Amino acid sequence: MDGTVGAGGHAAGILAASAPDGQLLGMDVDPQALELARRKLSGYGERAYLVQASYTALTCQLAGLGWKAVNGILLDLGASSMQFDTPQRGFSFQADGPLDMRFDPSNPLTAAELVNRLPEAELAEVIYCYGEEPAARRIAQAIVRARPVTGTRQLAEIVAKVKGGKRGHLHPATQTFQALRIAVNDELQVLEAVLPQAMAALAPCGRLAVIAFHSLEDRIVKGFFRRESRDCLCPPRQPVCTCWHKASIREITRHPIRPAAEEIAQNPRTRSARLRVAEKI
Ligand SMILES: C[S@@+](CC[C@H](N)C(=O)[O-])C[C@H]1O[C@@H](n2cnc3c(N)ncnc32)[C@H](O)[C@@H]1O
Repeated sequence: MDGTVGAGGHAAGILAASAPDGQLLGMDVDPQALELARRKLSGYGERAYLVQASYTALTCQLAGLGWKAVNGILLDLGASSMQFDTPQRGFSFQADGPLDMRFDPSNPLTAAELVNRLPEAELAEVIYCYGEEPAARRIAQAIVRARPVTGTRQLAEIVAKVKGGKRGHLHPATQTFQALRIAVNDELQVLEAVLPQAMAALAPCGRLAVIAFHSLEDRIVKGFFRRESRDCLCPPRQPVCTCWHKASIREITRHPIRPAAEEIAQNPRTRSARLRVAEKI
């Protein structure tokens, strides 16, 4: 199962590697992404099932197909290149577009709503918590003063003015855009919700692979893998276990796998990727 099928790149690799009869369920909330995946995977015929749904619906989607368990689940989190490179989707500060940032176009919440409607203190909290942005308060103040903020370029300029010029290879608005995208799509909550479901859906020895692109996501995946690979969760000083927790997974990657320098050179967007894999016991 590929829970974030996107343009179908990973899915095509999985289908090729599981030939001749491996089957794959590919899910995505974005109908444009699914259209790309449908085209890319058309040669695999009935081996590929594609559905427009959140990966949090994986349990009922698998039940709908009559699949009792799967051998592997992939979650490649965040936005796709197609989404970043389509200015109308509003994910990028590199081009001008509306403040949208929704993966799922039926989601009623857009980035424009947050930027123009949230009280200043709440906006600062979103930018601080989801962007780990130290200048969150000053940025929120500048945004509120500039309301209405209508486009990605205007927002990027407001943030750049507060933070000063570009430092290193990160645009000054990177963390603010990340924060708004996470809030619009409720990304951390859906990730927390899917991990136990994914483990329950795996067959014994099946594997869950998650590619995270920032530390907030990676922390959730790491914490879940650590907890679920332990036999007891009682405090270390407690002499006798009273929690009866049993390990349900084995961590395959104690440390995340990072892209090699060559891959980063070919595709700079991979530079922050961290892959963690766990196997169901
Ligand atoms: C990094 S891209 C995946 C790219 C894909 N692995 C490929 O090979 O083309 C992440 C995808 O996840 C989708 N997505 C984000 N949140 C989702 C969710 N809760 N459920 C399903 N898909 C989601 C996005 O729309 C996006 O297409």
